[in-house]
Amino acid sequence: MSHVRPAFGARRETAPQIREIDKRAFFRRLDAMLETYAAAMEPPTDQMPGRRTIMERHTAYPGFRAFVAGRRRNVAGFAYGFHGEPGQWWHDVVHAALAETGGAEHARTWMDDAFEVAELHVHPDSQGQGLGRRLITTLCAGRTEGTVVLSTLDAQTPARNLYRSLGMTDLLSGFRFPGGGPLYAVMGARLPLTSRRS
Ligand SMILES: CC(C)(COP(=O)(O)OP(=O)(O)OC[C@H]1O[C@@H](n2cnc3c(N)ncnc32)[C@H](O)[C@@H]1OP(=O)(O)O)[C@@H](O)C(=O)NCCC(=O)NCCS
Repeated sequence: MSHVRPAFGARRETAPQIREIDKRAFFRRLDAMLETYAAAMEPPTDQMPGRRTIMERHTAYPGFRAFVAGRRRNVAGFAYGFHGEPGQWWHDVVHAALAETGGAEHARTWMDDAFEVAELHVHPDSQGQGLGRRLITTLCAGRTEGTVVLSTLDAQTPARNLYRSLGMTDLLSGFRFPGGGPLYAVMGARLPLTSRRS
């Protein structure tokens, strides 16, 4: 992940438009979105087939909604989410962890009517131009759920700053998902989002 930030507003006026895409358009852009994911996250290459399978599966979840910026074969950024439901792996794991740390009512409050943001990535070439903020605020706008929840690396990353600036707070921190991997934070906010950017 690149943390080098272009001068504020340097290329903001040339930042690509974002548009909503349906499931078919999502599948058509899947290769390009995975390339952007890989450039932004720099995951081990052996994780990419699994990531593709997960993203394909997500398109069948209720309330699936996706936005993309850039061209079909050259995706500058994308974001998508869906309505969380029992039986979905991430939903069940987070629901159980929130119940364990804060009680059943706490878990229900955050998870029973939640919009779950699964992915938000901007290609390093397009970062720092306001695209990530536009993608997630557009994705969440008009959602009927009571809350928005997501997980992100538990570190001082640009993503963490962005989510905090949108009013999201840590629901879990130092959290390790089943199967190992790094520590995550689960963050959430009531909907609609209220930007805390001054
Ligand atoms: C997180 C990410 C999507 C942000 O997209 P972006 O287009 O670069 O971000 P924006 O230009 O819209 O900036 C939005 C906010 O992010 C934070 N931010 C962005 N770049 C930052 C940087 N280099 N350092 C610190 N904070 C930063 C700031 O809070 C910024 O708000 P501000 O401009 O009002 O200060 C992008 O950095 C990315 O794809 N990172 C790698 C993948 C990733 O971490 N995805 C999220 C997984 S949960």
